[in-house]
Amino acid sequence: MAATFSPVSSSSPIGVFDSGIGGLSVLQALRHELPHERFVYLADSGNAPYGERGDAFVVPRTRDIAQHLVQHHGVKALVIACNTATAAAVEQLRTDMPQLPLIGVEPALKPASLSSQTHHVGVMGTRGTVSSQRFARLVAEHGSRTQFHVQACDGLARAIERSTEVPLPQDSSTTETRALCARYTSALGTFGVKTGQIDTLVLGCTHYIFAKDDLRALLGPEVQLVDTGAAVARQTRRMLEQSGTLAPEPTDAPADLLAGPAQIQLMTTGSLSALQSSALRWLDLPATCCTAVDIPLHAEALASR
Ligand code: DGL
Repeated sequence: MAATFSPVSSSSPIGVFDSGIGGLSVLQALRHELPHERFVYLADSGNAPYGERGDAFVVPRTRDIAQHLVQHHGVKALVIACNTATAAAVEQLRTDMPQLPLIGVEPALKPASLSSQTHHVGVMGTRGTVSSQRFARLVAEHGSRTQFHVQACDGLARAIERSTEVPLPQDSSTTETRALCARYTSALGTFGVKTGQIDTLVLGCTHYIFAKDDLRALLGPEVQLVDTGAAVARQTRRMLEQSGTLAPEPTDAPADLLAGPAQIQLMTTGSLSALQSSALRWLDLPATCCTAVDIPLHAEALASR
């Protein structure tokens, strides 16, 4: 059944959702592209990671979170800042909420394929994403000139999520992230810019952007790391323009102004202190932007656990 949808205006917020803190990397890009917008971000960290849970959990959970953002926050558009949830649930959400502009994220195979000189592209993603039908279609669409080397990175999103949890010592989880990055990149093959080497790596999970420094240290300066944040932000702008709900630019605002704390609300179903430390570390936002929220698990999601 189609969901109820209250009237929205250009001053309504944009909803952004991820299984956890990974989608903050997309929110970073959204803030740059749309500095005059309000954002409501929901991290389902109490249930992360989604990547190894399967569609029977991810689909009903994504629907419940989308409903929550529409009904309790009156969002005018929804960015699913999670490759895993997009792969599993975006079609279902489009059916449930036909009036809501929906923007999903998927691994950037097309730009990677266009820019790779060696025509060998590595792809890191969650098990849910890389085993999905949507991903198989993407590979088929862009695989004629490029060989994609694909790796399901079990545990990596969880390690990145844990690295934000306090009081876990920062070092132990960072070490875990680095070790997993090393294991998965070496499983992908040989990186470099010579013939036959992988010269481009697609970060097919929004959490992995926060492991960029580790990946860069492992792969060296020549390998390109590709993510979708900026493209998703541009697509969000286009969708808002089409629906006539883009927030107007204040005439006296400086051109490089970022959406500030008053315009951003961050919520988590998991550890509030972890969200607060991520907000400060990656978005330079104060703890006062963050709150805890309880969104009970739907019977279908519970049954699949
Ligand atoms: N950040 C998410 C993605 O882009 C999900 C990671 C997870 O929860 O496994 O796929």
